[in-house]
This record gives sequence, structure tokens and C-alpha cells, in this order.
Amino acid sequence: MTPRSWLFVPADAPAKIAKAQGAGADALILDLEDSVALARKDDARAITAATLAAPRSGPALWVRINPLGSGLALADLAAVMRAGPAGIVLPKAESGADVVMLAHYLDALEAAAGLPPGQTSILPIATETPASVFNLGTYAQAGARLAGLTWGAEDLPAAIGATASRNPDGGLNDLCRLARSLCLAGAASANVPAIETVYPDFRDEAGLRAYAASGRREGFCAMLAIHPAQVPVINEVMTPSPAELAHAARVVEIFAANPGAGVVALDGKMLDLPHLKQARKTLALARKEGDPH
Ligand code: COA
Ligand code: MG
Repeated sequence: MTPRSWLFVPADAPAKIAKAQGAGADALILDLEDSVALARKDDARAITAATLAAPRSGPALWVRINPLGSGLALADLAAVMRAGPAGIVLPKAESGADVVMLAHYLDALEAAAGLPPGQTSILPIATETPASVFNLGTYAQAGARLAGLTWGAEDLPAAIGATASRNPDGGLNDLCRLARSLCLAGAASANVPAIETVYPDFRDEAGLRAYAASGRREGFCAMLAIHPAQVPVINEVMTPSPAELAHAARVVEIFAANPGAGVVALDGKMLDLPHLKQARKTLALARKEGDPH
């Protein structure tokens, strides 16, 4: 199952890593990129490898490496792959071709480590450079390791010379909204989940709840977090409620009871094929206690 909540932890901070394991997130992202200073990258790699190798239960452990063009990515991968992370988060991905390139590195490193071929998934952050915005339709060719598509609202505005990523009213600026929408469409066209970006104001629970809910309405089924306090809110919002599940089950039932009907009525509303698809997707997001992440 795709994790609903992905909690970032700076990988050079063992106390935070320990705390994050108990935060209730479905996945942790041990970050080797922006939250770790250059002088700390080696320490962060060693801490990440030790964390991955330690016996544990709990959240799936992913690693965010540095960008492919940074000169740091191969050393990141060499340090962590032996310990078998669940997946690699690829920042500043420019297109599906970057995922294919990373997949080739993983092929080699999995073989060298004696890991089952293909076990390491890839989650690209697909909107962080100006060129990437034009390539969000290329992920359908990215291969079987692709686990989802997510986006970022901080690096892109900085890269094009914007002075802020938010408007004075707190809403995302137009370029970010475009990138976010293209991430949704790109993920759907590649048949993988779309994962909402972080909500940076970690003390604003009401704002997070409203933002996550708008993401869920628009088609995101999971979200990145930067603080443990954000995790329960994200888990709740990204899990279909009992009422949503009950409604979806009724939609599926009424179509099953009317075989051959293209359109039916339920509670005074028209339902046709898109509603049936939507209901099936909602049911697919349902979780049972004890589900693997
Ligand atoms: N994972 C694990 N623990 C975290 C955490 C995280 N992402 N964020 C905060 N905590 C811990 C703090 O260490 C603190 O622990 P303590 O009570 O044992 O000292 C507790 O939660 C409360 O933290 P708080 O005081 O509210 O926040 P802070 O000022 O310590 O940290 C940030 C704020 C932004 C620095 C921190 O949340 C963080 O490092 N987030 C992740 C940043 C990141 O990875 N960014 C890259 C992706 S955008
Ligand atoms: Mg960044």
C-alpha cells in the first residue's frame, strides 16, 4: 500500500530519527539533501546506513538522496543501498528519464548487495526545476520502480527568481498551482499515486487540515510531512472516512445491481461511469488495521 504520510527527518539528527519512528507515519524520509549541510553529508550517510541496518518494526524507511547532477548522489547511494531502504526519494527530477537513470544505478547496487532485483522503489520530486514543469507527462515511461509522483513548492519559485512561493493571502502562486496540477495529471497518466507536498507552517494545524483536505479532494492520496505533529492530521485526512466508504460501497452496489446500465440514480443524483471509477478508487484507499505500509 502507498504510505499516506511521509515524514521527513534530517538524516544527521539521530534524536529526531528516533522520535520520528514513533510518530505514526507510514513512511519516514531520511533526508540527505536540503536539510543537511554539506559538511555533515558524510555523517548523515553513516547515520542513515546504521538506521536502515538496525532491527526494527514500524514505518517504511526511505532515503532522499542529493540530486543526480549534484555530484553527491552516487556517494549517497553507495552508502545506503547495502542496507536496503524501501525506496529512494529523488529531488529535482527533471523527467522520467532521470528515474530510468536512477533505476540503472539501483540495478547495479542491488546486485552488488545481494538484494532482490527491483525491490527499491523511487519517488521523484518532479517540479523543482524550471525544465521539469514541461516534462510531467514523461513518467509513464519511468519503469516499474516508480512508486508515485510528488512536487515541491520551494525550489521552483527560487529557481525562476520569484521572491516568494505564496501570495500575500497565503495561497500558492500561479506557477506552483500549475506545477501541482501537472503533478496530479502526470501521476495519473503514469498510473501511480500523487503525493501532496509539505505544509511548511508546522504550528498551524487548522491550516494543514484545510490544505490536506483540498489536496485529497483534488486527487492526492498521501502527503509529505516535516514535523511529527502533522502526521495524525495527514493520516486522518488521507484515509477515507466511514461515510465516504459507505457511499462508495453503495455506488458500486447499485451498478452491480443494474448490469448493463450506463447511468443510474442514487439519492436523486445521476451516477455514470466516472462516479463508479471514483467509488472504486475510494474503496481501494481503505485500510485495515495491521495493513503493511
Ligand atoms: N522528525 C522527528 N522529530 C522531529 C521532527 C521531525 N521532522 N521535527 C521536530 N521533531 C522533534 C524535535 O526534535 C523536538 O523533539 P524534543 O521535544 O525531543 O526536543 C520535538 O519534535 C518538537 O519539535 P519543535 O520544537 O516543535 O520543532 P523544532 O523547532 O525542534 O524543529 C524543524 C523544527 C523544522 C527544524 C523540524 O521540524 C525539522 O527538522 N523538520 C524536518 C525538516 C526537513 O527534513 N526538511 C527537508 C524536507 S522539506
Ligand atoms: Mg528542496
